[in-house]
Amino acid sequence: MTDFDIKYAEYQKIFDEYLSNFCDKLVCEPQILKESLIYSLKLGGKRVRPVLMLAIADLLGIDRTSISNFAVALELIHTYSLIHDDLPEMDNDDFRRGKPSNHKVFGVGNAVLAGDGLLNTAYSILFNECFNGNEYISASKYICDCAGISGMIAGQSADLLHENDTTVDEKILDFIHLNKTAKLIMAACVTPSILCGGKYYSEIKTFARDLGFLFQLTDDILDVEGSFENLGKSVGKDGAEGKYTAVRLYGLSDCKLRADLFCDRCIKMLEGLDGDTQFLKDTVYFVRQRIN
Ligand code: IPE
Ligand code: IPE
Ligand code: MG
Ligand code: MG
Ligand code: MG
Repeated sequence: MTDFDIKYAEYQKIFDEYLSNFCDKLVCEPQILKESLIYSLKLGGKRVRPVLMLAIADLLGIDRTSISNFAVALELIHTYSLIHDDLPEMDNDDFRRGKPSNHKVFGVGNAVLAGDGLLNTAYSILFNECFNGNEYISASKYICDCAGISGMIAGQSADLLHENDTTVDEKILDFIHLNKTAKLIMAACVTPSILCGGKYYSEIKTFARDLGFLFQLTDDILDVEGSFENLGKSVGKDGAEGKYTAVRLYGLSDCKLRADLFCDRCIKMLEGLDGDTQFLKDTVYFVRQRIN
């Protein structure tokens, strides 16, 4: 295990404790609703958004406990986006995080409700945070905007709209990648900056945006080159569904060059910040080289 692996696992463990506390306190009926929420949350996943939020909180020297509820809320929103993304009328994916997708276990109706439930609960957590002061209100609003109709939802809508669209338009691809993926990564990274009065706000926002593009570029590459065993989700689906992906627009090798470019941009941005950015740099390399 490298120093990076150890630190990443430490952050995952910290976040998993926040999430377990949340799940332990969750009161809801009927039982199937609770089970369906917890099923997708506890399947795991890389937890890359909470890990980034914790790492940036550490870099900026803010108390981890001040971001714990934001990290949980954001992972709830991310998990809901995956449940809905997998639905038959969206990407129609039967597997997620190595297990049957939520709708394969609980049925489509319950999976829609599980996603709705996670989103509503995330908003309830964010509303509670607003009692802590103006920075907390601003951070909550930022997360909502990143998740909403000018963020992730817009990206998902464009992703559906451009299925089987055979044009080659970089602007369309950038719109999809920025919104469906980069916006939630921006929410993760920018939240700690907002909470400490905007320190490195524009640098962190640019970093997170580029990292979000890199993340979706590697997701598109992995759909072609990855394996079910490593990814825990079906591969080869983007081509089969006529998705507007980076691989379709640029071809595999140019797509990798583009990923290298975004990787360099992220590293350069981190080099301009004071403090120990080694873990964040290694996270960028991890996203570039990931197999899962
Ligand atoms: C998958 O996100 C959806 C995309 C934005 C590409 P992740 O790759 O972060 O999924 P998990 O949380 O690790 O399962
Ligand atoms: C999904 O993008 C992005 C969101 C869920 C917001 P993809 O459809 O490419 O993600 P995967 O490949 O199913 O994880
Ligand atoms: Mg999708
Ligand atoms: Mg999908
Ligand atoms: Mg994908």
